[in-house]
Order: sequence, then structure tokens, then C-alpha cells
Amino acid sequence: MSLTDPARDLLDRGHTAIPLTTEDAAALAELRTQAARFFTQDEETKARHGSADFNFGYRPYGRQYSVSPDRPDMNSSFTYWANDPTRVPGHEADTVAPFLKALGAYWQVAAGSADQVLAGLAGHYGCGNDLQFRTSSYLEVNWYLRDDERDLLQDRHEDGHLFTLATSDGPGLEIETDGEMRQAAVGDGRLLVMPGSVLTAMTAGQVPPLYHQVRNHQLERRITVLYLVNPPLGRPVAPYVAKDGQAVDVAALARTSGAMFGLPPAPVLTPPTA
Ligand SMILES: [Fe+2]
Repeated sequence: MSLTDPARDLLDRGHTAIPLTTEDAAALAELRTQAARFFTQDEETKARHGSADFNFGYRPYGRQYSVSPDRPDMNSSFTYWANDPTRVPGHEADTVAPFLKALGAYWQVAAGSADQVLAGLAGHYGCGNDLQFRTSSYLEVNWYLRDDERDLLQDRHEDGHLFTLATSDGPGLEIETDGEMRQAAVGDGRLLVMPGSVLTAMTAGQVPPLYHQVRNHQLERRITVLYLVNPPLGRPVAPYVAKDGQAVDVAALARTSGAMFGLPPAPVLTPPTA
């Protein structure tokens, strides 16, 4: 286990990584197994588990892009908000229930890691660590498609959240460090912490977004598991640092930041009951 404070590392280097325990890694491995079972079903079956607005559950290829709508990201996705399986259409069906169970188990791992980062940032900025992120954050599993033409499966972009905890079962993710795109070390038992544009707003620019892209290595299979951490979305949220005395509403920014990638406004959810 690294002794590095992830928040300190984030502030100093612009990104960081959080090591996984053996049990954490097992939850991730099980999630990948169940993801592969889900995504290798036919389109009609998968489409039954996606909401009409594409916010919950399955989202087919073509709905999301990184820069331009005519170059969709070369993947389909599954989105699991707020650790609440009931948001996913047909959630009790055996075509999706085992996948949702694995998502719920991995949620605990990812949310615990997000807690570490947020506690460190709140400590650094002398703020209370009261950013309730669990109802406004989501897991996204991306299932990449084979493509022989494109050099990049996702074009260079920044994420529109506080930060993303990223992991992949194969190479491809590249991150910008010192002005150059370089292959990121993920998938080796660590979660990469990638700051997004909402954290930049939270810190008045002190933590810039980490630009990233996905290189095409012509892999037979590629699965990424992302935990996208948002501030609360249903009430105004003040930044850690006010910019020029202006009180930016960080929540408003987080609700609408998906639009630049073709996504609908983020849903404002209430915590799941029971
Ligand atoms: Fe991204």
C-alpha cells in the first residue's frame, strides 16, 4: 500500500493512483466477467436494459463522442447510477441481474477510494468533508468494439466530473503529462485518478483537467470500468476556492457538462430507500 496521500499527489502531479487490495481486485475481476457476459448478448436483449434518455443502463454505440458527433467513441456502455439497480430497466431479469450485483459490489470499492481523495482535498483546502457524492455519481462500464481504421478509439478529451477512477483490462489509455500524450499505467491493481473539469472549477484552476484518449491496439476485447464522481446535483455547491470572489455553482456545471459529449443532463436522484 502506498503511503502517498492521493489528494497531495493529485495537487502536485495532476493525477494519482490508488492501489487495490486483493479483495478489491477480486470484485473488479468479477465485474469484468459479468460485464463480458452482459455485452456479448444480442442488441435487442441489451436494449431492454437501457432507459430511453440513455442515462441508465445500456447505451449502444453511437450515442457518445469525445470531440465530434461524427466520430462516436468506439464503445457501447452500461451506466449504473447511485448504487441503485432499480434505475435500470428490467433490473430483475437474469439477463442483467448478475451484472448489477457485481456493479453493486464494486461500487463499495470505488466509493471508498473516492472518499479517500475527497477527504484529502477537503483537508488541504480547510473545508468540511461533506460533499455527498454517492447519489450523484455513477459507474460506467465501456465495452470497446474492434475497429481496423481508427487510430484512436476515443479522441482526446477531459471528463466533466470532479474526477474519474479509471481501470482497464488492456492497454490503450493515454494521458497528457508535460504536454505529451503517454500511455497510462492502469489495470495493474490500481485505479487511476483523473481530475475533470468540475474539480478545476472547485479549485479555481489549481487542479487542471487531465486530458486523455484511447489508442487503438486492435485488441480482441477491451473493458474499462470508470467511477465518475460528481458533487451533489440537486442544490448549489460552493467551490473549495472562490475564483475572483465569484461563487460558481459547481452543481450546475456538473449537471450539464455531459452535453459536450452528446449526453443528456445528469439526473438529480434521491437516495435509494432500504
Ligand atoms: Fe474520459
